[in-house]
Amino acid sequence: MRGALVLVSSIALASCSSDRNAESSRHYDLGRAATPQEIAALDVDVGPDGEGLPAGSGTVAQGVALFAQKCAVCHGARGEGIPPTYPAIVGRDPKAEGFQFGKDPKLNRTIGNYWPYATTIFDYVRRAMPHSAPGSLTNGEVYALTAYLLAANQVIPMDASLDAASLKAVKMPYADRFVRDNRRGGREVK
Ligand code: HEC
Repeated sequence: MRGALVLVSSIALASCSSDRNAESSRHYDLGRAATPQEIAALDVDVGPDGEGLPAGSGTVAQGVALFAQKCAVCHGARGEGIPPTYPAIVGRDPKAEGFQFGKDPKLNRTIGNYWPYATTIFDYVRRAMPHSAPGSLTNGEVYALTAYLLAANQVIPMDASLDAASLKAVKMPYADRFVRDNRRGGREVK
């Protein structure tokens, strides 16, 4: 019995080492190269400076209608949120004005009183919302919803229309409360 066990394990070792040799000299023929279209469908990130914003445009008025249709069920009719699960995305609590979050961390952070970049709204809504069907909005619809959210948060006028150039130009009320992490060295992601 002992002899048989020793024999089995030495066969296992032999096959392991021959597999390893084969591994270095052989391709597995698994998968295929992604097509440019498949890469483009996933490569949708928009930087804080607006790099990557697509063609298209949308108005606040179109955004109002889309919001009622596709967003209000979770975020409330006026974007006031449905606690504790669905965050408020509209609203500027007067107590939070002036960036009072250090004094009271419980104050509600919304797009208008906190977010440093308007372009993040486009990026986030396009990739993640509506929560039940992410990726289902057209670029024009995302511009319209971004316009509505900015207008409802009193950042742009109610008759505004947004495209790549005008969205890049929007300055958020508290953008200057954030600084770039310009530390050098250490891990790339801190
Ligand atoms: C099925 C429910 C649901 C629907 C519909 C929905 N959302 Fe959301 N939304 C959520 C949840 C849940 C979160 C929080 C996600 C998280 O924190 O990971 C969220 C977060 C957000 C945020 C980020 C809020 C913040 O301050 O962090 C934005 C902006 C947003 N949604 C916009 C939209 C827009 C625009 C629509 C309509 C196209 C929409 N949502 C539709 C559930 C929903």
